[in-house]
Amino acid sequence: MIKVLFVCLGNICRSPMAEAIFRDLVKKEGLVDQIEVDSAGTGDWHIGRPPHEGTQKILTKNNISFEGMKARQVIANDLENFDYIIAMDSSNVGNLNKIFMNEKTGKVQRLLDLVDGSKILDVPDPYYTGNFDEVYELVSNGCQRLLDVIKKENLLVKGEI
Ligand code: 4NP
Repeated sequence: MIKVLFVCLGNICRSPMAEAIFRDLVKKEGLVDQIEVDSAGTGDWHIGRPPHEGTQKILTKNNISFEGMKARQVIANDLENFDYIIAMDSSNVGNLNKIFMNEKTGKVQRLLDLVDGSKILDVPDPYYTGNFDEVYELVSNGCQRLLDVIKKENLLVKGEI
């Protein structure tokens, strides 16, 4: 099982959106038996809360489920537990480095670094900008690219166990 963790600051806007979008892609590709998806925040303010209303709205509009999702905080053990730890922006990467005590595993990557030629490398925080549409476009692109990378790196084929 390949384990993917999306990370942002609060785990209510961007990373739950990425988790829901990525899980939807994994399902459509027939890879649910091979890829597990989760998300977490580096901050603790929203632990236990469902995704932000703006994230809920855009996911619903795009027919993507966020059922049962609740915010949690990143823990040091996540570094061991997950294969791909995907941060939404560079400040998330900095916070993760602190939580993971600067251990260099190559597991932590910034989502939009995976998108060739992307002019925007940090997913803007819609908690402050209010622009959930822009975030949805950026995160969708990044998630599609991430799935391509994971399939390639792990030689995944639809329906295989
Ligand atoms: P997120 O957005 O990191 O995309 O979930 C935020 C949510 C809450 C806060 C900051 C960012 N906050 O400061 O409470």
